[in-house]
Order: sequence, then C-alpha cells, then structure tokens
Amino acid sequence: MASFGQIIFWGMIVLIFIISGLIILILALAFSVSNGFVESSDLFPVGNLGQDVILHCRFNPSSGTGVKMNDVSITWEKKGLSGVVYQYKNGAAQLKDQNPLFTERTQLFTDFITLGNASLLLRSVRMEDAGVYQCSVSAPASRGTISVHLRVAAFSAPTFTISNTSLTAEAQRWLPKPDVSWSDYAGNPLNASTHFYNNSAGILRIVSTLQDPVRMDDTYTCVIQNILVKAVSQATLTDDMIYSGCPSRYMNYRHWP
Ligand SMILES: *[C@@H]1O[C@H](CO)[C@@H](O)[C@H](O)[C@H]1NC(C)=O
Ligand SMILES: *[C@@H]1O[C@H](CO)[C@@H](O)[C@H](O)[C@H]1NC(C)=O
Ligand SMILES: *[C@@H]1O[C@H](CO)[C@@H](O)[C@H](O)[C@H]1NC(C)=O
Ligand SMILES: *[C@@H]1O[C@H](CO)[C@@H](O)[C@H](O)[C@H]1NC(C)=O
Repeated sequence: MASFGQIIFWGMIVLIFIISGLIILILALAFSVSNGFVESSDLFPVGNLGQDVILHCRFNPSSGTGVKMNDVSITWEKKGLSGVVYQYKNGAAQLKDQNPLFTERTQLFTDFITLGNASLLLRSVRMEDAGVYQCSVSAPASRGTISVHLRVAAFSAPTFTISNTSLTAEAQRWLPKPDVSWSDYAGNPLNASTHFYNNSAGILRIVSTLQDPVRMDDTYTCVIQNILVKAVSQATLTDDMIYSGCPSRYMNYRHWP
C-alpha cells in the first residue's frame, strides 16, 4: 500500500509531465503562428497605363509536411467592387463570382503557389483599376489578408536628340502632368523650355529643350517626375552621337501624396 509520501511524489511527477507537455504545446502553437504570414513586398505599386502590373502577395507555405494545391485558397478582391478579382480554391480557379471588369485580365502564378506566391497579374492596366486590392490567403501554415494600394500613371523614358548644339528630351506618355528639370554633371540646375502636347486619350507627350548650348563630352541629366513616378535619364554627348547612359531609372512614390 502506497504511503502518503509516495502519492505526493508520483502526483508531482505526473504534474510535471502534464505541465511540460502543456508548455511544449503552447510553444509549438506560438511557433507555428509566428511562422505563418501573409505579406507583400510592395504595398503601393504604380501601374503603367496599358501595361501589365503585378500585385505582390506572398505567404508562408510550409506546414512541415509540404503544402498541396488543394490546401490553399487565395482570394483577391477590390474594395468597393462586388465579386472577386480572382479566386483560387480546391486546386483550381473559381471565377463564377468574378467582377466583369477583370474578365480575362487577371491570373495567379499557379506554378508558384505551393512556394507561397499569391501574386496577381493584372493585364493592360486602366485608370479605373486604381484602388485598394485585398489578398486573402488560407493555407495550412498561414491565414490572413493584406491590402495592396494600386495607383495608375503613364510614364516612359525620354529619348534625346541634338540639333545645332541644343539638347532635346522627348517622352511619349506621361500622366498626371509631370515637372521636368535638368542638371549638368555637377548637379547644377539648367534652364529648359518644356512643352506638353495632349494626345487623344489625354496622355501627355513632353518635349523639353535646354536653353543654353550643350558641350561635347558633357553629361546631362533630365528628371521627369509627377506625384507617383520619377524617371531619371542621362545623356552623354560625344562627337557624333548621344549616349543615353544606362536605361532610365524609375522610382515609385510609395504613399499617397
Ligand atoms: C511570383 O511569381 C512571379 C512569376 O515568377 C514573380 O514575378 C513574382 O515576383 C513572384 N512574387 C512573389 C511575391 O514571390
Ligand atoms: C543655331 O544656333 C545659332 C546660335 O545659337 C543660331 O544663330 C542659328 O540660327 C541656329 N540655327 C538653327 C538652324 O537653329
Ligand atoms: C534661368 O532663367 C532665369 C530666368 O529666365 C535666370 O534668372 C537664370 O539665371 C537662368 N539660370 C541659368 C542656370 O541659366
Ligand atoms: C489635355 O486634355 C484634357 C481634355 O481632353 C484636359 O482636361 C487637360 O487639361 C489637357 N492637359 C493639358 C496639359 O493640356
């Protein structure tokens, strides 16, 4: 017959096992929750009118056992619009509730879903596509929703021409109306005369000519920027040609003005 002391002793042992089991369970839960995420590398993308844009969304796919397509559901919706932008569920696209604005214009990168890629490809961006898109993911290791704010602009790199020692930059598509500024190699501002021409769709063509004569072997920088995009382009003049130094760099402004 067990003594009172023995009962206490075994009771303590059992208690220690139960408590350590609970602690392990809590740690495991906390770990799996902190491991799960749904996030975007770009919350404020700028689409270029008429071109394709990717709305980035990714999640942690791993649940320890590898994730199967059937376990993942991804829904893209746009705030203020009925229906879905795109939906993927039970291993296939589910488009019967798709808003007609997005018919044949959206897709996911299906081959990469099991790697955690829930990004949306939106084709041929229109002005009215601007707005807040929500990416909702439900997967074994991750569950959540993020908002991606798409803004739409038109932008294109300028081409440079030189005639009679004046340097001109011409860019075909800009919207909203940008500012154009020039500087020399040392960064000093230069005066230019800039004209905007409205095409039928209300998109602006820009022609900007430096006022002062340019010198050979110098490098000139032209910056075209509006509230959403900044394009920095350089032209280096040599005897009989213009080198447009490295392709224009575009920078997106990440937040609403
Ligand atoms: C998803 O895949 C596409 C196509 O490979 C790629 O362009 C995009 O950057 C990926 N997005 C993420 C969030 O991994
Ligand atoms: C070229 O520049 C010179 C001096 O700036 C000016 O006198 C001349 O009229 C210009 N020629 C043309 C064709 O613009
Ligand atoms: C630019 O033009 C303004 C007025 O037209 C003038 O005051 C200024 O000196 C000019 N700057 C340069 C760098 O030529
Ligand atoms: C271009 O045209 C639109 C209307 O077609 C007008 O509202 C806009 O102000 C014009 N922009 C410029 C820079 O002339």
